[in-house]
Amino acid sequence: MLEEKSEFNPDNTGILLISHGSRLPIASETITRLAEMYGQETDLKVGVAYMEIHEPNIPDALDILVKDTNIDTVIAVPVFLSHGMHTTRDIPKILRLKDEDSDEVSHHHSHEDHNEGSHHHSHDLEKINFDGKIIYTEPLGADPLVLEIIKKRVENALNQ
Ligand code: NI
Repeated sequence: MLEEKSEFNPDNTGILLISHGSRLPIASETITRLAEMYGQETDLKVGVAYMEIHEPNIPDALDILVKDTNIDTVIAVPVFLSHGMHTTRDIPKILRLKDEDSDEVSHHHSHEDHNEGSHHHSHDLEKINFDGKIIYTEPLGADPLVLEIIKKRVENALNQ
């Protein structure tokens, strides 16, 4: 739960969880489930966006989040374990938090999702229409809470 602070007015603040995006349904089910769980704990509206491959993309997700609301402040959380090119370069550019010469999405990483077919890595970045305030947070990081999850997985494996 967010602490009671005057600037976090539930009526004008939304939360956007930004995930990488995958062709596998389990990826979006996971982030959507997390958003639902979070939504049950907060008065703030919680939305989900995908960096690539899956819809809604970040601009569309922001439109969905603020539609028919008074939201003028969005807390954007990259639900990535660590910083990488998407979190340090692409997402800030899509959120119009930084200006750069190139509008190409970074393409130097190769994981499974990127191997087959065409997706929008080579296309220009679509940027958000939102004119309110964006607060862009750190990714999950080397947080003791993340370690707790890792330990839980190990303990479960040992107890099988
Ligand atoms: Ni990627």
